[in-house]
Amino acid sequence: MLIQRDQLPLVNYHGMNQVHQRELDILNEFYEAIVSGKPEKEISRLFNEFLEDVKEHFAYEEDLMKKTYFFAYECHSGEHKRVLEELENVRETWEKTKNVNFLRNYFENTFKPWIVEHILTMDTVTGEYLSKVLMGVGVLIPQS
Ligand SMILES: [Fe+2]
Ligand SMILES: [Fe+2]
Repeated sequence: MLIQRDQLPLVNYHGMNQVHQRELDILNEFYEAIVSGKPEKEISRLFNEFLEDVKEHFAYEEDLMKKTYFFAYECHSGEHKRVLEELENVRETWEKTKNVNFLRNYFENTFKPWIVEHILTMDTVTGEYLSKVLMGVGVLIPQS
């Protein structure tokens, strides 16, 4: 397991926590395939599944931030964009080299600390803002 459930920080907005939990499950399954020596095809399939989920995760937060005119939208979405490009590059390198150690190293030493830190900082500030702003308009923008 790359990240345990209780290692994942919670934010003050339920919908974001749900999205993070789903991503954690997909990421852990993908990571298990990497470390347990599953066939390359299976690793590639799970990598694609993970990447699609990351895109949905980021788009979900960006949509909420836009709808509520979040003050740090540029900063938060810019960080999403940077990591998405990084993940696309990692996938490209994986497809070219099929080097599992490279993948393992990236997810253990770069992605894992990044996602925990990102949730603790930008997502926490965003979740706090959403919980306040959406209190009165929860009917217009359901949390899940
Ligand atoms: Fe997030
Ligand atoms: Fe985020």
